[in-house]
Amino acid sequence: MAESVFDFRGIPKDDAYRQANNAVDNLLEGIDDPIAAMATICSVLHHGFGFLWTGFYRVVSPALLRVGPYQGTVGCMDIAFGKGVCGTAAAEHRTVIVPDVNLFRGHIVCDARARSEIVVPVSNRAGDLIAVLDIDSAEVSTFASEDQRGLERIVVWFEREVG
Ligand code: SME
Repeated sequence: MAESVFDFRGIPKDDAYRQANNAVDNLLEGIDDPIAAMATICSVLHHGFGFLWTGFYRVVSPALLRVGPYQGTVGCMDIAFGKGVCGTAAAEHRTVIVPDVNLFRGHIVCDARARSEIVVPVSNRAGDLIAVLDIDSAEVSTFASEDQRGLERIVVWFEREVG
């Protein structure tokens, strides 16, 4: 098996995400199972970057997200489209960066230590939304355009592999 303990801290973000993306591609070589991919991506990102919570919410009915593979403390089970940061990203099918969760109206608290958040939409080959990738940080203003770029590139795996 490829190397399995990653640490991307202390290196420029673009490089860090490039390394994370390579790690994910290597680990998932020959795999086309989206749940295995979600679990693996969570582990690589969560431990590699030291995030507070890293996980996927899956689209389980037309306007409902349900928690999927994650790393961190217990996540909320269901989030309706339009609710919280995840539901906003899902409803609008776009990445949402929240520098300070206390200033985001309707932010859903799962872990009270969360201070900033990024949510990235995940699409399949047809371009349909199948999930969102949600990451929480214990510090304010953790996420910027490099994180958006890096994470959006990582979830391209689902556009390639999920029909
Ligand atoms: N804060 C998210 C809810 C999910 S947890 O962060 C795991 C939101 O507002 O959608």
